[in-house]
This record gives sequence, structure tokens and C-alpha cells, in this order.
Amino acid sequence: MDWRLSTLIMTKDLEPLLDSIAEQFKLDRRIVILTGAGMSEEGGIPTFRGKGGLWEKYDPEVVATAEAIISRPKQVWEMHDELRQIIAKCKPNPGHVALATLENVFKHVIIITQNVDNFHQDAGSINVLELHGNAWRVSCTQEHRSWEDRTVPITELPPICSCGSILRPDVVFFGEPLDEHVLSSAFTEASTANIMFVIGTSYVVYPAAYLPTLAKNNGALLIEINIEPTLFSEFADFSIMGKAGEVLPSLMKKIQTKFEK
Ligand code: OAD
Repeated sequence: MDWRLSTLIMTKDLEPLLDSIAEQFKLDRRIVILTGAGMSEEGGIPTFRGKGGLWEKYDPEVVATAEAIISRPKQVWEMHDELRQIIAKCKPNPGHVALATLENVFKHVIIITQNVDNFHQDAGSINVLELHGNAWRVSCTQEHRSWEDRTVPITELPPICSCGSILRPDVVFFGEPLDEHVLSSAFTEASTANIMFVIGTSYVVYPAAYLPTLAKNNGALLIEINIEPTLFSEFADFSIMGKAGEVLPSLMKKIQTKFEK
């Protein structure tokens, strides 16, 4: 069977598909991994657009825009503080751990994540580009400096900087530009990738959704892992329908075994 064709398969067919994917790996491959909210869903963090997701409960126009942090800082922080409390109760899943082990085998492994939960780093990944910031960092709206503050829950909302100005979550809100260094590194990584994973993302938010196109233009092998088909599925060389926390440990084990031989 030609697995290079875009293929959606059920769990019972997974083993031969994972074997075929593992065969494509060589030690000099540049591996780039794009992750979204589905990567952390099994740890207990709701996705944004799924059932029970954050955007079902909150209107992003109200709580996740640059304008909102100025005009409704308390509301913005109520949502963000709730997210921080959820993250604090959760931990990385076996999928995060499996991805971290790739850095022990391949020289060039980069994770580009849309997630703000710090789970890739908590699981041991070193090379992580955070496209949308980090929920544990706060930033002063006046002085524009940021730092880590893991206090949960935050006692007074919105929190205030020692300079007297409102603090904001150091995450990217809708309508805001991404950090230019992070974005430029992400574009460079995607454009030079030989293998790109696209894991647990609905593939609707740009510029993250543009990165696989850059990788494809470089001739990269594109591998999707998601519990359901997405706009990306037809475009992928391999599209695996399954949970990241279940598929990734099996796949990484096969890849590692290949290079232990
Ligand atoms: P979404 O909530 O849009 O999509 C989550 C994706 O994960 C969906 O395609 C699900 O099918 C899939 N999924 C769910 N559980 C999974 C599992 N266990 N294993 C694998 N896949 C699973 O989240 P994102 O694509 O990350 O931006 O959203 C992108 C951005 O939009 C977020 O970073 C956030 C949001 O609004 C900002 O806040 C700026």
C-alpha cells in the first residue's frame, strides 16, 4: 500500500502505518513539530474550539484582544486566571514525553507550539518556540518587561505592577502581532524542515497554519496526528486519526528502535 497517499485510518491499522512512517526517518533529518491545543487535551486542558472548549464559554472578542486588556482587564484576567488554575492541576501527557525523547536521537528537533501551558518544556524538550506566549509569564503594560509568576489563583484581578500599571498575561491576543524573533525562527525552521509533524491543531489560526506550507515547499514529509480530519489532512503525507498521547509514544518507540539497531 502506498502510505504516501493521504491516509486516514482507524486504530486497528495503526501499527503498519507507524512502521511506514518510522522507515522515513534518517539521522540527519531536520524535524519540526507544530503543536496545538489537542496536544494537551489529554492532560485535562480544554481545547479552544472543541466541545466544552474555552471559546464555547468565553467570547475571544471580549477576553482575548489587545483592546480588551485596556478596557476590560478584570474580565481578561478572570478567564486567564481560570486557564492558569486548570494548567496548574495538569501535567504533560505521554505524548509530550515521547516528543522530548526525539532530541536524544536527532540533532535537529524543534517544537513550534501554539500552546501556552509550558508542557513541552516540563516534559524535557529544550528547543521550543512559543508562538502565542506563555501563560506563566506576566508583562507590564507600561514598562513592557515580562517575567514568570506562577501564583495561582491570583488574589487581586487585574494584578498591578510595582510601577502602578496593569499587568497583562504574556500571551498573544487576537489582532496582536506575534513576537518577531519567534516568528522569524519558526518560518526559518519550517522552510528548512525535512519532516514536519502537525499535532492537535485545528489548522485555522494564522500564521501557525501557514508553517506546514513552507515545509511542504521545502519537500518535507508532513505527518498529522489529530482525533478528527482537519483542513490539513488532505495536504498531509500521513494523517493519523488518534490521540496524541497514545500515537506518539508508539511512534517514537518505533523510531528509536530503528536507530538502536
Ligand atoms: P483548537 O481548539 O482550534 O483545535 C484543537 C485540535 O486538536 C482540533 O483539531 C481537535 O480535533 C484536536 N484534538 C483534540 N484532542 C486531541 C488529542 N487528544 N490528540 C490529538 N488531537 C486532538 O486549538 P488550536 O488549533 O491550538 O490562540 O488553536 C489555535 C489557536 O487558536 C490557539 O493557540 C489560540 C486559539 O484561539 C490564541 O489564543 C491566540
